[in-house]
Amino acid sequence: MAREPKDADRPGSSHRVRPVILVVDDDLGLRESFRLILEDDYEVLDAADGPAALDIVRASQVDLVLLDIRLPEMDGIEVLERIKAIDEGVEVVLVTAVKTVRTAVAAMKLGAFDYLTKPFDEDELLSLVRRALEKRSLEREVAFLRSELARTRDTQEIVGKHPEMQKLYRRIAQVARTPATVLITGESGTGKELIARAIHRQGPRRDKPFVAVNPAALAEALVESELFGHEKGAFTGAYQRKLGKFELAHGGTLFLDEIASLRAEVQAKLLRVLQEREIERVGGTRSVKIDVRIIAATNVDLKQAVSAQTFREDLYYRLNVVPITMPPLRDRRDDIPLLVDHFIRRYNDEFVKRIEGLTPEALAALREYPWPGNVRELQNIIERSVVLVDGPLIGLNDLPVDVLLPDHRTKVQDAVALPLKEASAEFERQIVLRVLERVRWNQSEAARILGVHRNSLKLKLARWKISPPGGEP
Ligand SMILES: Nc1ncnc2c1ncn2[C@@H]1O[C@H](COP(=O)(O)OP(=O)(O)OP(=O)(O)O)[C@@H](O)[C@H]1O
Ligand SMILES: [Mg+2]
Repeated sequence: MAREPKDADRPGSSHRVRPVILVVDDDLGLRESFRLILEDDYEVLDAADGPAALDIVRASQVDLVLLDIRLPEMDGIEVLERIKAIDEGVEVVLVTAVKTVRTAVAAMKLGAFDYLTKPFDEDELLSLVRRALEKRSLEREVAFLRSELARTRDTQEIVGKHPEMQKLYRRIAQVARTPATVLITGESGTGKELIARAIHRQGPRRDKPFVAVNPAALAEALVESELFGHEKGAFTGAYQRKLGKFELAHGGTLFLDEIASLRAEVQAKLLRVLQEREIERVGGTRSVKIDVRIIAATNVDLKQAVSAQTFREDLYYRLNVVPITMPPLRDRRDDIPLLVDHFIRRYNDEFVKRIEGLTPEALAALREYPWPGNVRELQNIIERSVVLVDGPLIGLNDLPVDVLLPDHRTKVQDAVALPLKEASAEFERQIVLRVLERVRWNQSEAARILGVHRNSLKLKLARWKISPPGGEP
């Protein structure tokens, strides 16, 4: 017979070598004949009764079960129900003698894919197996795509209700419709790239590429060829032509990150590209027309860089057509609880956890912290906590000590004027007090956070003549 392409060759199932079929029949002869017919194309496992079959379904990735309806110990219908309870995605084909067709029809209501009546011929079996596996693989693809979709939707969601954020949403909507160059300024971790992607996604170029390039992350010598590409032989090691990010972004958006880090020569070349709308590959002799929307980002004040003459003024004006400024997280603290919820949901999904939230004290600590690393820092802290915390709530103890001692850096500066010994004593006293306040003077908890024994904490407090407010012990 003409063989159709194997299921394993279909896209979406390519990560698996061969589909796995489990044959369940108490008749050894029948198990052997199934094996003979199927083993060319499939991985074949077998079991003589229901309990053995269920063990295999639990332990291995079974795609399809060929299940005899009349089995010793546990009948086929019960085995079917139990398989579906273990993994609904496993397809089951019932094998039955003519007498029990009626039962087989009932079984299909319980989720069996189809039934096969004995005696059957090889072609009939193979075509039924193929159809069942096809269904299984399509369902997997759909499930995979659905989860991917949910994931990308979630990771690209911009969270925030602060008036500055609302202004930002309106800005994004306006500018997305135009091809105008955008310059996004903001501290690190404020969401510059997130906004750049949102502008791309909401505009008419959404189906074209969004290409990001961060020259600060590249070796200086590579920046030009990354941006503009190079011809074969342009320099030692240029074994073949390579397209630059400008060409790769053709028709779409090019995101130029950390723009202030560009060397003077590259700044000059970039300016020319923005003016002429064409590029020349390194070592090339002809120009290539490009159509890209530029979004640049910087975490330094470019205007200052212009005054300091480290950034070209003419390039600055070329880039700063539509300026967007990202507010630092400490200026929109009311958004912190929203972001916390957002990241908890996301990492619960990702790590299959069920964290419900933060204790009020932990949330209060996050609201007070100055967030030098902005949303990225908050995101990392939540990710870490979701992974590490076992209970339903993230508490103060689970937060990094930096968050509990937000102003220790300035305090260190205050102490600099003192002799070293006094300075470190003062520093120590401030840390201990800070932690005690955080945990509402629960000394065991404070000792745990500080990593000292409870008694040595008591000693220190006595030495400093500090007693808890309200006179608790
Ligand atoms: N408003 C927001 N809502 C949800 N997630 C956000 C928000 N702002 C930032 N993030 C997340 O924080 C992380 C940092 O954002 P992004 O990379 O866009 O910042 P950035 O300004 O480019 O930072 P850097 O200067 O460090 O490159 C990303 O994972 C992003 O998804
Ligand atoms: Mg960035």
